[in-house]
Amino acid sequence: MKILVLNGPNINMLGIREPAIYGSNSYNKLLELLEETAASLGIEYTHLQSNCEGALVDAIQQAYGKYDGIVINPAAYTHTSVAILDALKAVSIPAVEVHISDVDSREPFRQISYAGMYCEKTIKGQGINGYAMAMEYLVNRCAT
Ligand code: DQA
Repeated sequence: MKILVLNGPNINMLGIREPAIYGSNSYNKLLELLEETAASLGIEYTHLQSNCEGALVDAIQQAYGKYDGIVINPAAYTHTSVAILDALKAVSIPAVEVHISDVDSREPFRQISYAGMYCEKTIKGQGINGYAMAMEYLVNRCAT
């Protein structure tokens, strides 16, 4: 099984960026967690972080026929990007949306998620562990 993990703008600033909201784990710590989780689940994965909407759309398109699942934290593009929603719909790969913070308890503009209109599951407010939970979900979904 192959999973594509996508992170949107400013996720590379984890640990530095608003630690009261996003926690103290660094971006490198997130990369370590992805590595450990993929190894323990026995799956392959690729990770991409980009601050550019088009790069995320390109990565989703290029996943077609190559990946069995997508874990995506579109970050700020969650709340604005119809292009990311349309790309997910276009490739029709099972996807899970992850948010490090609990977006439900934040500003009103964070209450809409375009990617979430496609994703079959959303994990929020679990810190970086949400990515491990999303990977596990996709593996279990494939096994059943
Ligand atoms: C985020 C929540 C978004 O509202 C925000 O713009 C982010 C990160 C999260 O992981 O909690 O950049 O997606």
